[in-house]
Amino acid sequence: TEMTSIDALINKYHMVNSDYIPELANMSVQYASSGQQLQVDAYEAFKIMADAMKQDGLGGIYVYSGYRSYATQERIYNNYVKSKGQSWADRYSARPGHSEHQLGLAVDVTATKSTSSSFEKTDEYAWLVENAHKYGWILRYPIDKELITGYGYEPWHYRYLGEELATKIYESGLTYDEYCVLFDDVN
Ligand code: DAL
Ligand code: ZN
Repeated sequence: TEMTSIDALINKYHMVNSDYIPELANMSVQYASSGQQLQVDAYEAFKIMADAMKQDGLGGIYVYSGYRSYATQERIYNNYVKSKGQSWADRYSARPGHSEHQLGLAVDVTATKSTSSSFEKTDEYAWLVENAHKYGWILRYPIDKELITGYGYEPWHYRYLGEELATKIYESGLTYDEYCVLFDDVN
């Protein structure tokens, strides 16, 4: 596998090679549903964040989708196209080669002790909005940014970028796509 840096911008215009596989860690069932994997540094940062959330008295979160191979992303995307149609699929699923999940640097999370079927209404979500950047994570597809990110609001999807970059992006109020263009940092 080739090196792909932690700050790689992956979106509808920038893709990752179909054969790219990051250095992966198997996630403990304490932090994820069974069989989930994440890039090694992202996993360490996720555990620290999830533990900190619990320290603050919340019920905690777990990852239900972490690393996804090119083939897995292809299957997910094609299933959505079949069941919901292509335009719906393109709002909520990246095409194969266009997902941050293939980098192993994205997580889809939900509350462990869910009080609501909708993650965005939980205290755990509110905590993430306020604190995720301190642990290196950003909300990648915010509400009302579909014209920029190309995706609908995904309160469950967080991207690992490291504490320094995540904090800069959080403070800028920009999406990662805009931040990369503004700072001429498209990689
Ligand atoms: N749901 C996000 C866009 C993905 O499939 O990577
Ligand atoms: Zn996701």
